[in-house]
Amino acid sequence: MITLFQTAGSILAGAGSFRSVAGQIRSQLGSVRRALLVTSPSIRRNGWAEELRKQLASTGIVADILEDDIRPEPAAGDIESMHAKIGGETFDVYIGLGGGSVLDATKLLAALATNNRPLESMLGTDNIENDGIPTVLIPTTSGTGSEVTPNAIVTLPERQLKIGIVSRRLYPKLAVLDPELTLTLPKAVTAATGMDAFTHALESFIGRKANPISDMFALEAIRLISGSIIEAYENGSSIAARSAMLYGSAYGGMALAASGTAAVHALAYPLGGRFGIAHGVANAMLLPHVMEAQLDAVASRLSLAAEAMRQGTGSIGDCSNDAGTEAEWALEQLAEWTRRVGIPQNLAEYGITEPDLPSLAESASHVTRLMDNNPKSFTLGELERIYRKLLPVEGI
Ligand SMILES: NC(=O)c1ccc[n+]([C@@H]2O[C@H](COP(=O)([O-])OP(=O)(O)OC[C@H]3O[C@@H](n4cnc5c(N)ncnc54)[C@H](O)[C@@H]3O)[C@@H](O)[C@H]2O)c1
Ligand SMILES: [Fe+2]
Repeated sequence: MITLFQTAGSILAGAGSFRSVAGQIRSQLGSVRRALLVTSPSIRRNGWAEELRKQLASTGIVADILEDDIRPEPAAGDIESMHAKIGGETFDVYIGLGGGSVLDATKLLAALATNNRPLESMLGTDNIENDGIPTVLIPTTSGTGSEVTPNAIVTLPERQLKIGIVSRRLYPKLAVLDPELTLTLPKAVTAATGMDAFTHALESFIGRKANPISDMFALEAIRLISGSIIEAYENGSSIAARSAMLYGSAYGGMALAASGTAAVHALAYPLGGRFGIAHGVANAMLLPHVMEAQLDAVASRLSLAAEAMRQGTGSIGDCSNDAGTEAEWALEQLAEWTRRVGIPQNLAEYGITEPDLPSLAESASHVTRLMDNNPKSFTLGELERIYRKLLPVEGI
């Protein structure tokens, strides 16, 4: 298999690295006079956007903070309206400071600035013609790994869909991994985004496009996240756990960039597009059930992932265990984590009922970019059955 691995131009990492962002921008991007800072309400409230604006000013870079805040799971139309408001103003760099929603929006705003076309025409793979404005991406969740991927996901409310835009032109010039920025994550966001990161690693590892480069990042992401997700959830102020989660998330993104996600993500998209379920929550709900539904096809890879999970959690395995037993142990762990970190297990909580399942399955089956990477080809009936696992019958 031939693999092309790409990632962010440079990566600045470590606790406190946020305080060196301006200096790095200077040394990585050369002559920068104006920056546009894209962010979200939680980040404004934490004071980080203003802190970064001042830091940039001290190195002679004038930064405007985009007036409109990015909302979670951004809609294509909202990003286009923001682009229209920016109008003819020119910036040397766009800086995204926030969760995956902010980072994806920043990538797309930068692409819109140099490609005079609607986002709709960029959907899918390799549909961006020109390089965008250079970007710097600073994640505050752990996370999507968007800071190291060529992906940006948009919601299309009128079509009740979420769709990916994938292009090498979306890689940032600089990614900054500072775990201190994730210390304020609420428990529910820690849980959902952490499980999303784990899903990136596991799906990249079991997927048909898995290769030696993606395997390396995926296994290390699995090890790191396994060893820290419960601690990050229960003790959010642990910088060690937050740090492991942020590296795990970035490595998950690198695995995803070299391989790709699969059926869990494909099934999650319609839950987000039609019912507004947050990306991480949808993936976390689905992950154990999708793996269980394809245990035969993934047992040997899942048993290797189990080894990395055992390394992360420090849990001793029995070396006489065969691949099937280890894969089942991994499944039990996933189900246990989702319980411990409070991932909802009932789609009815989001207004989904039995009659919605056939159309949800149909929508998921159309996400061929991801379904084609899945080890097992699911029939529509099998996809429905996976969703049905999350609609427990009352009284049973
Ligand atoms: N580009 C990619 O490779 C990729 C991969 C996976 C998911 N995604 C997309 O990313 C989006 C989801 O991103 P996400 O899961 O990071 O969530 P998010 O960016 O939507 O953030 C979730 C919530 O947490 C808040 N928040 C973020 N950082 C915080 C902090 N440090 N302290 C307190 N609150 C904070 C946000 O304001 C928001 O309310 C979805 O649209 C998803 O489809 C993209
Ligand atoms: Fe994801």
